Amino acid sequence: MYTDISLQSKQRWQEGAMLSSEALENAAKKALRHLEINIGRFEDKMVEPAVGWFKKTHPYGWSRHRYEASDTVSWTTSLWTGAYWLAYQLSGDEKFRTTAESHLKYYIENVNHPEKLDNHDTGFKYTPSCVAAYKITGNEECRKAALRAAQIQLEHFCPVNKFLIRVGKRRESDLYVHYRMLVDSMMNIPLFFWAYEQTGDKAYYDAAVAHYRTTAKYLIREDGSSNHHYQFDPQTLLPVGGVTHQGNSNDSCWSRGHAWLVCGYPIAYKYTKDKEIFDIHKAVSYFFMDHLPENCVPYWDFDFNDGSMEPRDASASAAAVCGLLEMCKYLPDGSEEKLLYKNAADKMMQALILHCANNDENTDCLLTHVTGSVPHGLYVDNCTTYGDYFYLEALVRYLKPDFEIFW
Ligand code: GLY
Repeated sequence: MYTDISLQSKQRWQEGAMLSSEALENAAKKALRHLEINIGRFEDKMVEPAVGWFKKTHPYGWSRHRYEASDTVSWTTSLWTGAYWLAYQLSGDEKFRTTAESHLKYYIENVNHPEKLDNHDTGFKYTPSCVAAYKITGNEECRKAALRAAQIQLEHFCPVNKFLIRVGKRRESDLYVHYRMLVDSMMNIPLFFWAYEQTGDKAYYDAAVAHYRTTAKYLIREDGSSNHHYQFDPQTLLPVGGVTHQGNSNDSCWSRGHAWLVCGYPIAYKYTKDKEIFDIHKAVSYFFMDHLPENCVPYWDFDFNDGSMEPRDASASAAAVCGLLEMCKYLPDGSEEKLLYKNAADKMMQALILHCANNDENTDCLLTHVTGSVPHGLYVDNCTTYGDYFYLEALVRYLKPDFEIFW
């Protein structure tokens, strides 16, 4: 499929970064300190980035780094819950577990309302919250809630076109733009793999495999870059073309969306051991590595590179670090790719610690220079819970390589 997977910037990744365990430990200590300070700030609520404030304000140049309490489950609240699970995994400190557990009632209640799960984010919502809770503590209510969520997500799988639909039938407005697939869903299919392991129901496994194959066919371009969305015609079911939602243009490559591929395919490999994933992952990873600016903190879209004043999105490299480290587990020692991926991960991780870690204890987040969506004016050069989560997951991967990832 990918005729020419080459790494233009190979020279750059022949050497890694001087990433000492002391630097990693200090970064983790600082990240955990932020989570600790935040325990009292939001009572037993989850958090969302402070959206109301941003909508009224021109986003460029502002950095408030604040969150708001929320009792509404979303893909961003679950990554906040997940950050507490990670903190508990790393430190064994009960206060992090208690905080994560104080959020669970919202997720357990939420699955009683399938209409609230009528979009592509279900896996994002239930893996770092309830699947994590079940894996760490054996919480049965969470297992049931996550299985119900997987069941609802399966209703969004189209068996004809073989992909997870962006928004299902429960919402009536603008059905055309709902009948799309997204790169984001590569992080939703781990919920299917987990549900298959738990229930033995092969429908979950088959849907996940079919989805990542369709992703490779339509969302990933020949050069290893990606479309954010791919539109199918809901009447004829025929493929229409690639479009963007959060990227710079229909032809560009939105960096965080691309990171969901870099991160999602190795997770799919973990469950399937499907060798065709190696080339797909190589294509998307090499594209990511080839488009990193000098300081290794990606711009929000790969249309931009050194010299541009556009905002960065540190959440993209945080997720990409997780994906590259995950793939390194499955590549033979001494292979060239393993070396290149590890060096790229180390350099991106070092850049996150040096340039993006939040040093201000009076603000809420762990990671700065994160961009939610430039076209929507959301959290531009600011912070988000997913930046925090993937930054901490990356740190945990370095410091505790044997930890069982939630995905
Ligand atoms: N829904 C995932 C993202 O915005 O990156």
